[in-house]
Amino acid sequence: MAQNILEIKNLNVEIGSREILKDVSLQVRSGEIHALMGPNGTGKSTLAHSVMGNPKYKIKGGRIALNGKDLTEMQIHDRAREGIFMAFQEPVQVQGLRFINYLRTAYSSLHPNERLEYKKFVEEVKELLNFFGLDNSFLDRGLNDGLSGGEKKRMEALQMLILKPKFIILDEIDSGLDVDALRTVSKAIERAKVGGAGIIIITHYQRILDYVKPDFVHVLIEGRIAESGAGDLARVIEERGYEYYKGELNAKIE
Ligand SMILES: Nc1ncnc2c1ncn2[C@@H]1O[C@H](COP(=O)(O)OP(=O)(O)OP(=O)(O)O)[C@@H](O)[C@H]1O
Ligand SMILES: [Mg+2]
Repeated sequence: MAQNILEIKNLNVEIGSREILKDVSLQVRSGEIHALMGPNGTGKSTLAHSVMGNPKYKIKGGRIALNGKDLTEMQIHDRAREGIFMAFQEPVQVQGLRFINYLRTAYSSLHPNERLEYKKFVEEVKELLNFFGLDNSFLDRGLNDGLSGGEKKRMEALQMLILKPKFIILDEIDSGLDVDALRTVSKAIERAKVGGAGIIIITHYQRILDYVKPDFVHVLIEGRIAESGAGDLARVIEERGYEYYKGELNAKIE
């Protein structure tokens, strides 16, 4: 398995003139699952967007590097080409862009040195649609166009498997999923891990972590990592509640 490393180092991020992320550091390696937990509005999606390179999020300090290569100044599509994939909390809809065409372009851009055999590729996508309980008509639908909430999330998980990125950020992939879909998406995450991806799962619930065992858990409170630990920290967080960490963090800062 290729050993890749994604390093987020002392990241400070502003939106408008408001400081959202404060000195966030995180290292993710191939085959690791990190869960990033925290209450609403604490900066989880901001971290995901900042790593992906959304220009709304201004990086005021720190850096993001993949295998030592600095991505901090790179645009979104270049970061994607380097192998970072993000499943959005609210996936974008593009009418008229057929899903299969989108996938094919995305795959070729991610793996420029591979000759893509279209027929084989389509077969693989169909197999995955079947795995996610979606029928073949989804191949021809516009990207996320008119899909239900849960269907969108499953299609995002499908992209993660087919595109084979080095690093995957899943922003609340579990929200709006029924229990069967949650199980399927969890299996997909395990598959991506076995395939060698490094994964960050953003969630505020323990629920998905009953199915996917994270190797590391981080609690983000008011833009700072308040605590990091092994997989079982998720359960402790659920018991303590986020208020406990707010208190801890404030005591540390003062
Ligand atoms: N585009 C934006 N413009 C202005 N403020 C923003 C923008 N995006 C995020 N924020 C603010 O930044 C803070 C962090 O938001 P973020 O979306 O990162 O939170 P989150 O931890 O993902 O929350 P949730 O669990 O609700 O998804 C919030 O106070 C939010 O209002
Ligand atoms: Mg969010």
